Formats: sequence, C-alpha cells, structure tokens
Amino acid sequence: MCGIVAYAGIKKCKNILIEGLKRLEYRGYDSAGIAIMVKKPGTEGGPGGFYVSVIKEAGKIKVMEEEAKSLKEDGTLGIGHTRWATHGEPVRENAHPHTDCTGKIAVVHNGIIENFTRLKRELSGEGHRFKSDTDTEVLPHLLEKYYEGDLLVAMQKLIKDIRGSGAIVAISADNPDEIIGARIASPLVAGISKEGNFLASDMPAVLEHTKNFMVIYDYETVRVTPNSVDIYDSEGRPVKREPFHANWNISSAEKSGYEDFMLKEIFEQPFGIKETMRGRLTGGYLHFDELNLSEEKIKKLKRIQIIAAGTSYHAALTGKLLIERWAKIPVEVDFSSEYRYRDPIVEENCLFIAITQSGETIDTLAAIREARSKDAKVVSITNVVGSTISRESDSVIYTHAGPEIGVCATKTFTSQIIVLYLMAVYFAKIRKKINVEKYKTILEELSNIPDKVQIILDQSGAIKKIADRTYRYSCFLFLGRIFGLPTALEGALKLKEVSYIHAEGYPAGEMKHGPIALTDSRTVVVGIAPRDPVYEKILSNIQEVKARKATIFTIASEGDGSIEEYSDYVFHVPGTLKELYGILTIIPLQLYSYYIAKNLSRDVDQPRNLAKSVTVE
Ligand code: G6P
Repeated sequence: MCGIVAYAGIKKCKNILIEGLKRLEYRGYDSAGIAIMVKKPGTEGGPGGFYVSVIKEAGKIKVMEEEAKSLKEDGTLGIGHTRWATHGEPVRENAHPHTDCTGKIAVVHNGIIENFTRLKRELSGEGHRFKSDTDTEVLPHLLEKYYEGDLLVAMQKLIKDIRGSGAIVAISADNPDEIIGARIASPLVAGISKEGNFLASDMPAVLEHTKNFMVIYDYETVRVTPNSVDIYDSEGRPVKREPFHANWNISSAEKSGYEDFMLKEIFEQPFGIKETMRGRLTGGYLHFDELNLSEEKIKKLKRIQIIAAGTSYHAALTGKLLIERWAKIPVEVDFSSEYRYRDPIVEENCLFIAITQSGETIDTLAAIREARSKDAKVVSITNVVGSTISRESDSVIYTHAGPEIGVCATKTFTSQIIVLYLMAVYFAKIRKKINVEKYKTILEELSNIPDKVQIILDQSGAIKKIADRTYRYSCFLFLGRIFGLPTALEGALKLKEVSYIHAEGYPAGEMKHGPIALTDSRTVVVGIAPRDPVYEKILSNIQEVKARKATIFTIASEGDGSIEEYSDYVFHVPGTLKELYGILTIIPLQLYSYYIAKNLSRDVDQPRNLAKSVTVE
C-alpha cells in the first residue's frame, strides 16, 4: 500500500528515486511523484539557497518518469512515492508528494490518517489552503504549523496529533541537507551506504546501493543526512541501533531475462523450496529451533489457531489438513480480517500461527495483537526479515523464498506450504503420532519435491497451449476435495487476480448445491484430481459438469490415462504422497493463470486494484 523512497547523498537523486520507486511499484501504482531539493540558480546553496521541485503524475511510474526526464532540475537529496489510493481518486492533484502553503515543505506518506477530517477543518480554519482530497495533505500543513527551524521537532509534534497509520517522510527547503521520517505502523527502513543514506518502505527499493539496513520502529522519528542516520524514540531521545545486513541480492529483485516477475517467481520455486528446507531438513531429520517451543509444550498442545489472508489463507488450509492428519492436533483456520472481530476464545495450550508473506498485512497484525492480548503464544511464518509481524511475534519462521515482487503470491505460497509440511511432521514425531518409517518416508519425499516441481515447470509449454485455447471462456470453476481444495481455491484466486475473469474455487462435492447452476458451454471446469483417496469422487463430480457441456481441464497424476476420457485437457503431475499433492498441483495452475492473463494482455505483475502488502483495513 504505497511505496516510499528517499535519498540524501553525494549522487544526483532523480534516477535513484525513480529506479527505487519502480522496485516498489508492487505496493501501489495508480500515481507517482518525486520532490527534489534544488539549488537556486546563482546561489551557493545554504539557507534560502534551495527550493523544492515536485514532479507528479497520475498513472504508473513511467508516466511520471517521462515528465521528470524533460526537466533539467536535479539535486542530491529527494523523496519519492508510488500510490495506492485510499482517500481521493488516483488523479494528479492527489498524487504525492504534497506540499505546505509555502511550497517549501514536501511530504510523502504510506498509510491512513483516520482523524484527517477534523485536522483539515482546523488547519483550514487557521488559513491553510488545501489542493487535494487526500488525508496526507494535512501532514505538510501540520509541519508548516509546528516548524520553528527544526523539521525533526515539527515531525515529533505532528505524530502526536494524528490517529491512524503511516510511514511519513518529509523535506524542507529551509533544511536542505536532511530528510525527516516517522513511522506509525507502516513499514520504514533506513539504508546506509558510503555514498549516501536512504529511507524506504521496503529493502528492494535500494538494494542496488546498499545491503545495510536499520528498521525504524513505531513512533520513532529519524533524521537522515548524506553521512548520518539518527533515530529518536517517541519521547525524542536518541536511540542507538546497529545496522543489519540483508542477504537478498539485487538480481533476485530483477527480472533476469523473464518477461514478468510473476513468471520469474513461478520458475524460481524449485530453488525457493530448497531454501525453505535448507537447515531445517538435514541428514534425514528435522530441526526447528526457531519455533522456540519445547517438546513438552508441543506434547501438551490442545489446539492450533491459524490466521492469514489471501493466498496465505490457502496455505493455512493445507496446514490444517496436514497437522490434523499427522500430528493429531485440532486446527482452526480464520481469515485475519474476521478473527479479531469474533471475540475469539484463546485457551491454555493453544498455539497461534500467523501466515503472511509480507509480514505487514494490517488485519493479520491486528489479529496477532488480539491473540497476544489474550496471552496466546504467536508463531509467525513470513518471508520478510524485520517486518512488523516478525517483530510482534513470539517466534518467527522465515520462508527464505527471496523477494517476491509480482503482486500475486506464487513462490511465497509454496514456501509457506513447505514450512507447514515440515511443522506438521515435526509435531507428529514429537507427539509420537507417526512411526519412524512414516517419518522417514515423508522427509524423503519432501526432499524430492523441488525436482518434481522442476519437471512440471519444464512442461510449461503444454500449459500455455491449454491457456491459448481456453482464455476466451467467461467463467471458471476450480473443483477439489480434501488436499485438492486449497489448490482449487488458490487456482481460482490466481486466475481472478491476474486475468479479471470470474473464477470460483469450490469443494467439488458442494458444487451441486449451487455453482453447478453456473455451468454451461461457456464454463471451464478445472478439476484437481490426483490419485488420492477422493479420486473416484472427484471423477464423478467432473462427469456431472461434463454433462452440462462445460469444458474440462484436469490436473491428474502421472500415469493416469483413464482420466482423459472425461477431460478435454489433462496435465499430469509427478506422483507423490497423497498429502503432498497440493504443492505439485498448484504449479500448473499458477502457469495457467499467467498464460491466460498474457493472452488477455493483462499486467500480471501489477493487476488493477491490488497491492502486495495491504497495510490498510
Ligand atoms: C495481498 C496480496 C496477496 C496476498 C495477501 C495477503 O492481497 O496481493 O497476494 O496473498 O495480500 O498478504 P500476506 O502478506 O499477509 O500474505
């Protein structure tokens, strides 16, 4: 939800800001802008020698970039923003940066100011003039009101006035060597390099320049100059913080020859899965120290509550099936956005697991806070080191899938599932619910999964052909049962997200209680039908829709020739344990959505109305 990047250093900043914003475009892409500190012609700089130049445009970053290219102005300090609209339409006036009445102060913001109506009324009453419909615009005016020579002090006063969430970054022509930032529940990191320092919503924005970062925490403010980063706590006292080194590399945040990030990330899955297993599955045994749960506690577990949103919710559904089947612990799964409002019961010996690729989803964070307020112990599964949720959990399991830039989750999903597989076997072993032989068989098969995923990816051409023949259909039903159900739900979600075609994921047995009414010759039914205990059942369900003239595409196990009789198209995945098919059957469906969307000329990396990390409720 909006991306921020800022730089103070010795290099010209216009391109640094624009390139940084492009790497953050997954966070929002309906308008973009930059503000640069420019030396007044004929002056030596110094007080009164600078002005703030703002360039902003509606649309994607490239629109603003074109405008920026035509302007000669540049400087060595500036701020930038890519927007996902919350208040006010995505038009130029509402794009960030926003300025105060004098035009000297410019601000970018990621979040929501809940009390902006009152603040705007008060500020207008005091004579401030507003130009946009955004909540953000109150911020430069508040800074103008509080400014007495030190922008940091003004920012520290400002954050006491606002309710809501935000990462706020500001500059003032009167303090041309510094950028001031503040954080209230929206991500903000400082990047440190010899040639200047940065603020950004996320590390990939500046990985090209540095791998050394400091996380800014809630209610902290920060002053960034070309050679210093000083952090202050909510009382304005200096905070000492050591930088950490990010082991993400820049090529992992680039397309590396692929047409889109989504395709690249789908193809990275064999590697991502290996990374997720690395250090956890070694020498035929599982190691899960980071869970921070004693064997005694695991034995005593009475229930597990998993919460998640979007694709992570589908990983959670797989986790439930696995943990219940292998470890015999009852598991409940909730949408994060529902959990906190249903007055949940948190009893003793209940483990709370939050799954979130970004580590920033506000609903998931709120659910964690609700659970912790009731004394739950929270384990989070996330891909982003230093994310808010990782810091607010009792223990964290990182998926190590590498940065995922495409808005739709693909490789983070399969890495989440791997963590849940590992966790389920780990719990099962400790609770003595599976014997050594089964334990060994599962682990051995898990270590074969990356190769099996690769076998599927090697046949992407076959999936593309099916997509080429079916992309004009208007309705898609994805049907699965038991382990196939999360795949069906995720397959439908992927297709909706990237192609904008109506798609539903459904338990195949429930289909005749409603969705079958949708079925006609314009429908494609995607059946998830690997050789598992519900295979025969799903075949009957497929025949029911076939009789209603739907086109049938089945995902079947290797060697299953008989299913072709019932299908217009079949894709075979390698054989595996019945419990592990979920991770193999989703791969062809990710590719299928991708190719359908490409046939429809959709922007798969940045689908309309979506954002990668949803930091508003
Ligand atoms: C957004 C993303 C989805 C993601 C969901 C939950 O909607 O576009 O891809 O599944 O948020 O995100 P999380 O970071 O909590 O997994």
